Amino acid sequence: SRKSRGRLMDIHREATAFFHELLMKNAAAGHARDYLKSRGFGREMADRWALGWMPDNPRMFLDWARARKFSGRELVDSGIVKLKEDNNPKSGLFVRFQDRLMFPIRNEIGDVIAFTARQLRENKNSGKYINSPETAIYKKSRVFFALDRAKKSILNEKAALLCEGQLDAICCHESGITQAIATSGTACTADHARILKRYTSNVLLCFDADRAGLEAVEKAYRQLAPEGLGVRVVEMPAGDDPDSYLKSQGADAFRQLLANAKEFFDFKLERGKATGRFDSAAERAVALGECVEMLALMSDFAARENQINIVATHLQTSSVVLRDEIAKAKANPK
Ligand code: UTP
Ligand code: MN
Ligand code: MN
Ligand code: MN
Ligand code: MN
Repeated sequence: SRKSRGRLMDIHREATAFFHELLMKNAAAGHARDYLKSRGFGREMADRWALGWMPDNPRMFLDWARARKFSGRELVDSGIVKLKEDNNPKSGLFVRFQDRLMFPIRNEIGDVIAFTARQLRENKNSGKYINSPETAIYKKSRVFFALDRAKKSILNEKAALLCEGQLDAICCHESGITQAIATSGTACTADHARILKRYTSNVLLCFDADRAGLEAVEKAYRQLAPEGLGVRVVEMPAGDDPDSYLKSQGADAFRQLLANAKEFFDFKLERGKATGRFDSAAERAVALGECVEMLALMSDFAARENQINIVATHLQTSSVVLRDEIAKAKANPK
């Protein structure tokens, strides 16, 4: 209901302030402040993003919540707390995050609707990041981290910069690259694509330069292209992500990478060529089939014509052949 949604928003807003206060001032949060510093955060930056600390002692949060008159039911509904046993309200409350750096996740108008929480010390027994579960106010497939701050720049720049991690998006904003958003570890979905389409027709993908990031590029293309979004790819040295690159090379170098972003098919095919995947005619035929299928996903006719020319050049075929194959693929979708 509207009232219970309002309560969930209240919990998130008030908890954000509580965690932030703890991070900045609590005597037990010294290691969290050290960690912040190690990631390049000064006080103002932590303020701007309302970063917080969830204590290791769950009582601190539960006592705070009780004093604020939030019920156990409301805490569970918020996702910050879960029942020790599913569906057993008598089983006791378990705080989902412990001794973590809390990043508020906001909706498009800037209300906090969820958290993502980073480990402060490496512990293989739990995830590096833990995110809020889906709730009445948080649908992962429809939320971009930092979109509330980025939307104006996305309109002005006529492009969105999509990163993998929250810290990547934050680092971009702090370097003046304010069209940056992130999908918080979830894959880019068709809903994400429809939301972006309201702001722009161009997406620059800036995923981590590792295997997972490369795979994510292809997956994101498959969601974005059908919505008529043009996809370009920012290339970083292997092992980097926007956060690490900005820290080691600076904003000007990063802006240069953005300026050099490649059209999706240039990126895909140049990589394929560099890794020796088109050496034989048989290999090129496989690549051609894949490109045809992917070109057929594009809903923007003029944009597709451009990409057809790119693919034809790389794979030493003609655009006539490609158009023909695309028509067949569209008549016979996989
Ligand atoms: P990365 O492993 O690239 O993390 O995962 P990162 O953003 O570079 O984080 P730092 O620099 O180590 O702090 C990319 C994104 O995937 C999600 C997070 O949203 C993260 O930002 N993720 C990662 C999870 O949800 N859980 C994990 O255990 C790890
Ligand atoms: Mn990664
Ligand atoms: Mn990363
Ligand atoms: Mn990183
Ligand atoms: Mn080969």
